[in-house]
This record gives sequence, structure tokens and C-alpha cells, in this order.
Amino acid sequence: MKICLKQTQKGMMAMLGNFSYCNPTKLHFGEQSIQALHDELRQYGKRVMLVYGGGSIKRNGIYDEVVGILKAEEKIIYEDAGVMPNPTVEKLYEGCKIARKNEVDLILAVGGGSVCDYAKAVSVSAYCEEDPWDKYYLRMEDVDNRIIPVGCVLTMVGTGSEMNGGSVITNHTQKKKIGHVFGENVFPKFSILNPVLTFSIPKYQMVAGFFDIMSHILEQYFSGEDDNTSDYIMEGLLRSLIHSSRIALKNPMDYEARSNIMWTATWALNTLVAKGKSTDWMVHMIGQAIGAYTDATHGMTLSAVSMAYYRFIAPYGLEKFKKYAINVWDVVPQGKTDRQIADEGLGRMESYMKELGLVMNISELGVTQNMLEDIADSTFVMQGGYKELNHGEIVEILQNSI
Ligand code: NZQ
Ligand code: ZN
Repeated sequence: MKICLKQTQKGMMAMLGNFSYCNPTKLHFGEQSIQALHDELRQYGKRVMLVYGGGSIKRNGIYDEVVGILKAEEKIIYEDAGVMPNPTVEKLYEGCKIARKNEVDLILAVGGGSVCDYAKAVSVSAYCEEDPWDKYYLRMEDVDNRIIPVGCVLTMVGTGSEMNGGSVITNHTQKKKIGHVFGENVFPKFSILNPVLTFSIPKYQMVAGFFDIMSHILEQYFSGEDDNTSDYIMEGLLRSLIHSSRIALKNPMDYEARSNIMWTATWALNTLVAKGKSTDWMVHMIGQAIGAYTDATHGMTLSAVSMAYYRFIAPYGLEKFKKYAINVWDVVPQGKTDRQIADEGLGRMESYMKELGLVMNISELGVTQNMLEDIADSTFVMQGGYKELNHGEIVEILQNSI
């Protein structure tokens, strides 16, 4: 998106520019939302590829419910199970074969971000005439082949994959974890969100998902110096997340808290709050590089580097870090320097992260000293934040995270 620049006393800064906005995913939210699957399925042909992960959907009953609806709608089901957290390129090739061989009309993903991301990857790759890893992930090209429509039944909250074009695939041989943000034609056609389905997520995954949401918001918030509506929306989303996550931590079956978190996760990364923002994404870039080397849980790769990253970057975007401290963490500014206010905000964020039980250092994820240079080398450097990092600075941040 084109960002307008205006000259100010502080130099050039972004201001809300002109943009087009469309989110084509239809959402069905709530305890009975699965019933919407009947109508949705009627929009597509008979051949449905049912994609899911390692079996949690069988244990919590949603598999039986979905299969029952598919049968009631007289669909032919082609199952593709075993999508692993951080789906691999090998699994993608396998899925492409199933989709092509059976000429499926719809890919129905039932699971978390990994399952939804994988479904989108198969959707664009099944009819790709060259290696989809090279074309869509390494070279990040636009899709110019047939796309199979995707629908999602979400069971894990965090990624926002249910309402965006993101699809992250890991290539362990090449030690690369790459996310392609595809266009609106690849967004899920529909997504079904029942907060009750998230009750069975194990605590480690649950809190990793909570931090993934926080990180998505911060990656977009910590950019630009203009007065931007998106920032006000994000401060509200952050406050809601902090409030509800504390409730969910004590009682994971609190419907109100879990539904608020589910809704916040969707808004955090359904592209709305990115409008008018240059956006940072360096925590995710470092986190993805760590993921390629360790296969660690996505949200924990972010929590483990976030404090070191934000403490490093704060001096370059002090005004926004001050705003964050006051508007999100209720830091009282009177009698304090900007730096003190910003530091207090980051301190409160760190205490909150510890309260959730997040992983706070990369050694806990299996990263060792001798891996730091390679991880820094594999980190893709983005330019939308307050400071474009060089190799040495990434190593320093990793060093401070170990
Ligand atoms: O495999 P199953 O049996 O389904 O178990 C999963 C998995 O072990 C389990 N789980 C999911 N729902 C459950 C449940 N267990 C019990 N009850 C339930 N209701 O949780 C584990 C983790 O699932 P996963 O889908 O891997 O988690 P998440 O949703 O965090 O997805 C992570 C993937 O999404 C990518 C990440 O990089 C990672 O590959 N991301 C995608 C993004 C996007 N599309 O925009 C953006 C994100 O930043 C992220 O990069
Ligand atoms: Zn994320």
C-alpha cells in the first residue's frame, strides 16, 4: 500500500494514505456457528478435501460433527490428516497430490493456524506447474494458476490465518521458514469460529497463541509517528487481550474471555489495522529464523526474543513506546522522562509475559551460542519499523535473548 509522507519538524513521517480495503472471508462466530457449514458447503462441488492435524479434532468431537455435516450434504470426503505444527514442504507436496488426483472442489481445514496455512498452501500449489516452494515461498511470486477454495473451522487461536492470506511453510533441509502473504483470492472463503472449541487447547499452546496475538498487534503498532486511527484500535485490542488472557489463565473455560480473545486474534491480523501503517515484523522474522532451526512453537519463538528486541528498538521510536506505556499499561507519566516511561511500560509487559508463563529466552527453545550467527544470517530484514537492523544488531538481540 502506498504510504503518504509529509514533512514535519521531526523529518519525514508517514500519514494515513489512500488505500483500498476488502476482506472477502465470511465469518460465522459463536457456539452454534458450525451449523453454518451446511449452507457454505452448498456453494461448492461434491469433492471435499478434509485437512486436519495430529488428532485433537477427534478428541474434542469436532471431527465427528464436521464429517456428519459433510455426509448430510452428500459430499465425497478425501482426508488429509497429520498436518504438523509448522507444516513442512514435504507435507505440502503430499497434499498437492491428494488435491490434484481427486480434483477436489473445496479444501476444508479443521484445526489451528498450521492446518489453515497448509490448506492455503495446497490451494495455490496443487495446480502450480513448477515447484511451489520455489515459486511461492522462496521467490514470493503472485499466484497465476488455478486456486482451490478454502474454508476453515478454527480450533486454535492466535495466527489470524482464518481471515488472512498468510501461509507459513517450513523447509527443514534448507533451514528456512517462510510466510507468503497471498492476496484476497487466497483468503479463506469462510471461517467458522466457536470459542468452545478452544477450551481443550493445552496451556502451553494457549499462552503461545495469546502472545502471538500480542505480537501481531505490536508488529503493526510500532511503526510510524503519525496520528493514526489504526493505533487507537490496536491499543483497544491490546487492552482487551491483556484483560481477557488473565481471566482465561485462571479459568480456561470462561466463555466470555475465550470469545473475546478469539475475536481479538482475528482483528489483530485480518489486515485492517495494517492500513496506513508501514509495519515492522522483525520479531516475526527473527522468530521464524529460530523456528527453522528448532521447530519450536511459533508464539514462544516470539516471546523469547521480544523483550530484547523492544528494549533495543525503543530509543529509535521513543514517542510510540511512551504512548504504549501510558495507553496500554497505564503508566503514570508525571515526573518521569520519556525513557523512564517507555522502560516502565516494557517492564510491565515483561511481568505480564512471565505471569502467562511464556518462554522468555531462546536457550529454552534449543538455541545454542554456536547457532546465533546462522540464525541471524537466515533472518529476513524488513524496513518498516523504527530501525533497519544489520547482521551484528540481530546477533546482539539474539545474544540478549539467550
Ligand atoms: O495437530 P493437532 O492435533 O490439531 O494439535 C494442535 C497442535 O499440536 C493443537 N491444537 C489445536 N487446536 C486444539 C489443539 N489441541 C487441543 N485442542 C484444540 N482445540 O495445538 C498445536 C498447535 O497448533 P498449530 O496449528 O500449530 O498452532 P497455531 O495456530 O499457533 O499455528 C502455528 C503456525 O501458524 C503460522 C506459524 O508460523 C506456525 O507455522 N503463522 C501463520 C500466520 C498467518 N497465517 O497469518 C501468522 C503467524 O504469525 C504465524 O506465523
Ligand atoms: Zn505470529
